[in-house]
Amino acid sequence: MNTKHTTQNPESPKDPESRRPGQLTRKQAVERMIRVDHAGEYGAHRIYQGQLAIMGGSHHGPVIAEMAEQEAEHLKVFEDLIAQRRVRPTALLPIWHLAGFVLGAGTALMGKRAAMACTIAVEEVIDEHYTRQAGTLKEISGDRDEQLCETFLRIGEEEQQHRDTAIKHGGRQAPGYALLSGGIRKGTRLAIWLSERI
Ligand SMILES: [Fe+2]
Ligand SMILES: [Fe+2]
Repeated sequence: MNTKHTTQNPESPKDPESRRPGQLTRKQAVERMIRVDHAGEYGAHRIYQGQLAIMGGSHHGPVIAEMAEQEAEHLKVFEDLIAQRRVRPTALLPIWHLAGFVLGAGTALMGKRAAMACTIAVEEVIDEHYTRQAGTLKEISGDRDEQLCETFLRIGEEEQQHRDTAIKHGGRQAPGYALLSGGIRKGTRLAIWLSERI
């Protein structure tokens, strides 16, 4: 067994039984995953609500509503996991409640392509996040959390579909796409980092 540890990567403690102070146990690492995913799905749900508030009656309304419905299902999955495993939700939910809606409504006000650009940026980061998380979970839990691992991968695939839908609806043709997308990606990564820890 590899007993060498690094503190640089607290997401994947190789040997949680003999961890150093400050490192996460396997249980803590898995709880952190559920906490951040719950926060992410909560934020995504609010982004789509913000978009629907502005664009619900438009040509793109039904497409956004369909993605919003899937986000509601994702959120329910993590709400159930939070309850079943008694995980403390992030203290930042009130912030994501507001920030998600403002991001969704704000980009929708900039136009339908900007709204789709927002979806591309957020979903790309979230899809990467789920893929990485599934790998880490497999590494630290082996087969013990197989169902959770499958959940990460299944939801990650649906996020990928959301990104593809947004690309199909012209998101990459939004004015100032690179700047808008870069900013939203950075913000999403920061939100992930914070929600894992707070
Ligand atoms: Fe989602
Ligand atoms: Fe999504």
